[in-house]
Amino acid sequence: MSLFLAAARGQDTPRAPVWIMRQAGRYLGEYRALKEKYTFWEMCRTPELAAEITLQPIRRFGMDAAILFQDIMTPLPPMGLDIDFTPGPVFKTPVRSADAVEKLVVPDVEDIAPYVAEAIRLIRAESPVPLIGFGGAPLTLATYIVQGGGSKDYDEFRQFLRYAPETAHALLEKLTELSIRYLKMQLDAGAQAVQLFDSWAGLHDARTYREFAKPYNTRIFEALADYDAPRLYIAVDALHLYSEIKDLPCEVVSVDWRVPLSQVRPLLPGKTLQGNLDPAVLLAPEGVVRAEAERVLREGLGGPHIFNLGHGIMRQTDPERVKVLLETVRHFDRTQALEIERV
Ligand code: CP3
Repeated sequence: MSLFLAAARGQDTPRAPVWIMRQAGRYLGEYRALKEKYTFWEMCRTPELAAEITLQPIRRFGMDAAILFQDIMTPLPPMGLDIDFTPGPVFKTPVRSADAVEKLVVPDVEDIAPYVAEAIRLIRAESPVPLIGFGGAPLTLATYIVQGGGSKDYDEFRQFLRYAPETAHALLEKLTELSIRYLKMQLDAGAQAVQLFDSWAGLHDARTYREFAKPYNTRIFEALADYDAPRLYIAVDALHLYSEIKDLPCEVVSVDWRVPLSQVRPLLPGKTLQGNLDPAVLLAPEGVVRAEAERVLREGLGGPHIFNLGHGIMRQTDPERVKVLLETVRHFDRTQALEIERV
């Protein structure tokens, strides 16, 4: 079995598998070359391009898993939403009323993003490593849909949850159904694991998370339980939510860089931990990259660990640093390191 799948299923592997959030993207010259010719949506919607971009980092660095090249916004246009990338997502008309939510369509599975299924088949035919599919968690998708794009503090969305909680639930309900169809489609097409990105969950307190995120995330993960595919979850800056996140029916929780994995381990019993190097470390000299990666690897001992960054790789990252990072992770013998720690 692949090292990634073994660790994702809960094995304390002798070496930590490694992949990198946003491993396909603008820090790679080969991605930027394609970006000159095509728009972001064209790259997502052309299966050959999406497959090629997914495989670029695998060819160059040999990560232990590939992640589908798409965006969390991919399944939203067929709902009736008009989205542009500049480069962050911008919604032509933010959704803020019960009427607007009512008008959103939950498309049939074959109308969501058929090009994604095709891209997955192309990737599976070529990839030497498992493929991770993904989607945005309902609360995080709703954050963008209501706010209308990226924001410093998502003030509109946080107000909206308070002045229109019923409308918020109606929106989350539709996004949950959409996500279940979309993620099942990815698994049926050949994705071997799925990650739910709840990038903005950490904005909220635990009570708000319990009401507006946890039940929907739980439903999505439960709907995928019959596939033999590990379920991964990430909420960023969410230490205050781990007492809720520990209950999610998923196998892996991705941890951001703010807390050592060793501190998080007891809070998430039975979960594989993924993470959690600060992406900014990759902007530092090689020696710093090695030392910091080894620190994360040591903090990840004592349970299953998938090495990753604490959030997406930064676009100004020198790909040579990524090489150093992967070498460091590959050379780190977890069994031996554990013995040294015990002495
Ligand atoms: O990880 C990968 O390699 C797969 C590809 C991937 C993209 N977006 C491609 C992308 C994944 C997994 C995502 C997820 C995503 N998209 C999230 C969740 C993860 C996270 O970062 O919290 C979110 C919140 C988005 C929304 C989004 N899309 C933003 C904020 C941006 C701008 C990002 C930036 O780097 O400025 C995008 C655009 C986007 N998605 C790009 C890529 C490669 C850049 C587009 C370009 O090349 O101009």
